[in-house]
Amino acid sequence: MKTGKLVLGICTFAIPLFVQAQDVGRAIRDQAERSRILMLQNISRPDTRPGVVVAAPSKQNPNYYFHWIRDAALTIKTVVDLYNLSPDPSEKKVYGKILRDFVDFSRFNQLTPNRSGGPGEPKFNVDGSAYNGDWGRPQNDGPALRASALIGLARILLNQGEAGYVREKLYDGKNPTQSVIKFDLEYLANHWQDPCFDIWEEVSGRQFYTLLVQRKALMEGASLASDLGDGIAGYTYMQQAKNIEQALTQFWNPQKQILVPTVAQNGGITYKNSGLDSSVILGVLHGDPGDGFLSPGNDMVLSTAYQLETAFRQIYRINQNTTLGAAIGRYPEDRYDGLGLASAVTAGNPWFLTTLAFAELSYKARLQFIRQRSVKITPLNMKFLGQFDSRIQNLAPGTVLAAGTPAFQAITKGLLRKGDEYFRRVLLHRGPDGSLSEQFNRDSGYMQGAPNLTWSHAAVLSALFSRH
Ligand code: NOJ
Ligand code: NOJ
Repeated sequence: MKTGKLVLGICTFAIPLFVQAQDVGRAIRDQAERSRILMLQNISRPDTRPGVVVAAPSKQNPNYYFHWIRDAALTIKTVVDLYNLSPDPSEKKVYGKILRDFVDFSRFNQLTPNRSGGPGEPKFNVDGSAYNGDWGRPQNDGPALRASALIGLARILLNQGEAGYVREKLYDGKNPTQSVIKFDLEYLANHWQDPCFDIWEEVSGRQFYTLLVQRKALMEGASLASDLGDGIAGYTYMQQAKNIEQALTQFWNPQKQILVPTVAQNGGITYKNSGLDSSVILGVLHGDPGDGFLSPGNDMVLSTAYQLETAFRQIYRINQNTTLGAAIGRYPEDRYDGLGLASAVTAGNPWFLTTLAFAELSYKARLQFIRQRSVKITPLNMKFLGQFDSRIQNLAPGTVLAAGTPAFQAITKGLLRKGDEYFRRVLLHRGPDGSLSEQFNRDSGYMQGAPNLTWSHAAVLSALFSRH
């Protein structure tokens, strides 16, 4: 076993069905290596253009053989991380080729006329042509996620002395621009106020997830712009990021004490009554530039996470009468069974990527508290933190638990354990070869929906990257 490497080599033995708590770290790393391979198999496939990331290899029932901007960008973000972490030059070369192909394909997408009339178009055919069927469009998280992933790449290349490539393909500082990052940022700076469809492609309105990832992209873009001598644009991007912050205050529901996914709804399905939605947690994970604004340890976020988990514990049979980590779905009222919208209100299932998001949230909240060297107890985080030490429920709001105290240690240890419990849940329902579909059945636990969803595998890697 190479210990200097982040991920282990492929294990040839069959994977155990039930992972004991003490083996969980090893089992997670083993799954991550399988996920890395299965994820890479969905990128630049022989029958697609180079740089295409198919959402899943399945071409029918369901047909996920498209390049979805969101799924692709989140996947490419993990490829950027893999590139960064890999000590092996030949492996780095493989990642580098994928990333450059993705840059070219993304630029091609930007230049392809489509029914959204801009970079909010949610998906393209794998030959790069526009998808002309009806769809929930635009989805304006796509350009933000793509810009963020590519800003990550730009930063690496600048460090490696490849400013020429960066200024030509990624950020040219010109108006109008020919470069992929600036094209997306200009769109975001001018269109973040537009209503758009949510990441589940079902509801139109103003979206928490979308605004949060747009804010992050604009902030990162502002600093890249000013580093590359495009200071006026940088100022504009920062201004708009600040305006988005204001808009984000509308998503707190003080009665329910949760962050809601959508406000000012102007279309789409109307049965999401609880206001609970895991896309809020995903937004915090994908939309945190590390500046302390709505971070994973934020008490509004933890209150929302607590209520989401409680709801999913109640509605899914596989979550009942068990001490296993909870299986988490998109939202309680979900009716998407992986093929279409069923009429049954019980059609929705837990998903791997949302369950993994809860693992990542636990790991990241833990890291934040360790970095802060303290946790402040508030009425909003009391129940969530009380899971780790029941005495916390009796503390006065405002109490600060400092690093080194037993209560602080109970929280940081408990968060790591909790993250691992979600992971064990994922390991229990995966395929024998480490495959991960989109969903797993709420009653039987068997995988369902698109097989080997690229995003499921990317979610394994991104959760692992926060598990220190
Ligand atoms: C396909 C979308 O991708 C999915 O998120 C949605 O639930 C179904 N269509 C039903 O609208
Ligand atoms: C349905 C999901 O709701 C959406 O977020 C995703 O982009 C597509 N499937 C493709 O994986």
